[in-house]
Amino acid sequence: MLGGIPRHVGVIMDGNGRWASLRGLPRVEGHKRGAERAKDVIEAALEIGIEVLTLYAFSMENWQRPRQEVSTLMELLKLYLSKELLELLHKGISFRVIGDRSRLPEEVQKVIEEAEKYTSSASRLTLVTALSYGGRDEILRAIRKIIKQGLRPEELNEEVFESALDTAGLPPVDLIIRTSGEKRLSNFLLWQGAYSELYFTETLWPDFTKEEFLYAIQDYQRRERRFGAIMPISTES
Ligand code: FPP
Repeated sequence: MLGGIPRHVGVIMDGNGRWASLRGLPRVEGHKRGAERAKDVIEAALEIGIEVLTLYAFSMENWQRPRQEVSTLMELLKLYLSKELLELLHKGISFRVIGDRSRLPEEVQKVIEEAEKYTSSASRLTLVTALSYGGRDEILRAIRKIIKQGLRPEELNEEVFESALDTAGLPPVDLIIRTSGEKRLSNFLLWQGAYSELYFTETLWPDFTKEEFLYAIQDYQRRERRFGAIMPISTES
């Protein structure tokens, strides 16, 4: 018997650079093709009723890439957001960014704020983009926030801590998918993924199809989730 649809799916979209190199193309061509695959996966998430889709688009570590690649990625994001804003609205997608946005170029910050504002009441799917994001950095920023609020140690619990994270109000991530054959989390949703199921595939992100995304969901549905308990725990609401 198959389990339910995961409420929250996270995706580490890896392998754009290798996809381009294999074809003798500049890395940016891999990112452009990757952005198309992101659109396919968003479409599939909408179709099957996933509540939250989190895409890892730019990590803290990615700031160390050559300046040219960083600025092209930023341009791509800006372009994508300005071009797709109406489409997001039309499809009922609420857009949200997690990460240290203070490091992002000002114009990118502005487009993000607009997209978040205009789509805030949409409710079919929450599309979270992890940008300038690192799980450890997110946890540190949450701790700083809590200290600034003057909370006493005995007042701190998981619920309070979660409300200080960038993902406040979102459900924990049920399934994390990583493409390109790497089998690690690379600082993605460290707190939120404590009980996530993991799906790894050799497919490079620019080749990751809607069909493979649906296959990953089916694979997830066949798993028993015990959360440390003995009997499987139902995740269906
Ligand atoms: C990892 O591949 C991918 C990235 C660092 C960027 C991901 C960005 C996109 C898919 C485009 C924009 C996204 C949206 C949501 C519009 P890599 O460059 O690390 O590949 P490699 O490991 O083969 O070098």
